[in-house]
Amino acid sequence: MKNFFLAFCLIFSVVFTSCVQKGGNTNGTTNTGDTIKVGVYGDTTGATSSFGQSTKNGIQLAFEEINAAGGVNGKKLEMLFEDDQGTPEKAKTVISKLINQDKVVAVLGEVASSNSLAAAPVAQEAKIPMISPSSTNPKVTEVGDFISRVCFIDPFQGAVMAKFASNTLKAKTAAILGDNSSDYSKGLTQFFEQEFTKLGGTVITKQTYAQKDQDFKAQLTQMRDQKPDVIYVPGYYGEVAIIAKQARELGMNQPLLGGDGWDSPELWKLGGAALKPAYISNHYSADNPAPEIQNFVKAYTAKFSVAPDSLAALAYDSAKVLADAIKRAGGTESAKLKDAINSTKEFAGVTGKITLDASRNAVKPAVVLELNPAASKFEFATTIYPEGMTPPTTTNTNMNAMAANSNTMNSNSNMNSTANTANSNTNTNTTK
Ligand code: PHE
Repeated sequence: MKNFFLAFCLIFSVVFTSCVQKGGNTNGTTNTGDTIKVGVYGDTTGATSSFGQSTKNGIQLAFEEINAAGGVNGKKLEMLFEDDQGTPEKAKTVISKLINQDKVVAVLGEVASSNSLAAAPVAQEAKIPMISPSSTNPKVTEVGDFISRVCFIDPFQGAVMAKFASNTLKAKTAAILGDNSSDYSKGLTQFFEQEFTKLGGTVITKQTYAQKDQDFKAQLTQMRDQKPDVIYVPGYYGEVAIIAKQARELGMNQPLLGGDGWDSPELWKLGGAALKPAYISNHYSADNPAPEIQNFVKAYTAKFSVAPDSLAALAYDSAKVLADAIKRAGGTESAKLKDAINSTKEFAGVTGKITLDASRNAVKPAVVLELNPAASKFEFATTIYPEGMTPPTTTNTNMNAMAANSNTMNSNSNMNSTANTANSNTNTNTTK
């Protein structure tokens, strides 16, 4: 009887322990309770691999800083990174692995909107918060309340370039060459045209291509004959650099306009001198002399031997926003964490103050950068604010960067515009 009882106890304890282990951790990695696992996914191989690499770097730097300062609620943040090779199918596969196998408490990613759109339903379904650092297509956060982002969205970004084209470059006509394999590019095409038309301009021709195309001469030749004042190319760096080269080869010297998708250290190698004149909308300027930005630029450059592009800056901010939310939520319970993320207000990021609106999108100004291929540099041109946002009038703002970069401005400079008050998205470009 005694032996039987002992055997029973033994069997019970083995079964019980293994049950507990299963419930707590099924992936075989150590989860001793003193780390918080965060999934990160993006492309470190494939056509837009600098997007994923910068994102990974930005998050790594943020986690190291947070951990060096004691972590979050006494626990260290641990990044589990998955390469999705920049495809929507792989994005969906790797986010499922991070959530279901690795049991991450939250996910940071993706960059390209089409990849975020493929992966977001997995996070929403599993009720695991996903913060996209840099996907700007409006549909991404519409997937559900567990999906948010720390960047502005494309109805704003498209309007920013339309305003710059119309108000600053005085363009009356535009051509658009968009990537019809990307949700990002399709959205920007639509939003740019809407605003440009509203401002009295005309989009005289719209042409498309697909990612990985190499020859854009047929589309460009058609455009050339219509002599648009500017050409809007809302694509990713790999294709837009070749488009710039081929346009110049065809004798087209108009300003080329683009969006954040042009931002990559690779752009200069691929496009060279053809990338002038050209302007893009973007999330921040690494030249902004505000000390918090320069500290970040210094730390990042020291660590990775390259200046942080906007992807790195947004990724860094997404990691810090997540850490702040875990702190405010008092832990990682998913519903509480989601609520804490979604109520982020006035968080001081390197890409600006981050406040999420009711649709979980950040409401922030955009910068317009002028390309300087001779120096392989994006140079600050102006800041454009969303409707109703009052531009700051004190120090530590883009105004300093403006002053520092005043030589890059053209004759109808916007230098004084940020000193104006409300509704500066129109004021910004009215200074004659
Ligand atoms: N906004 C782009 C998209 O949604 C991604 C991107 C962000 C690319 C910032 C470069 C820099 O697809």
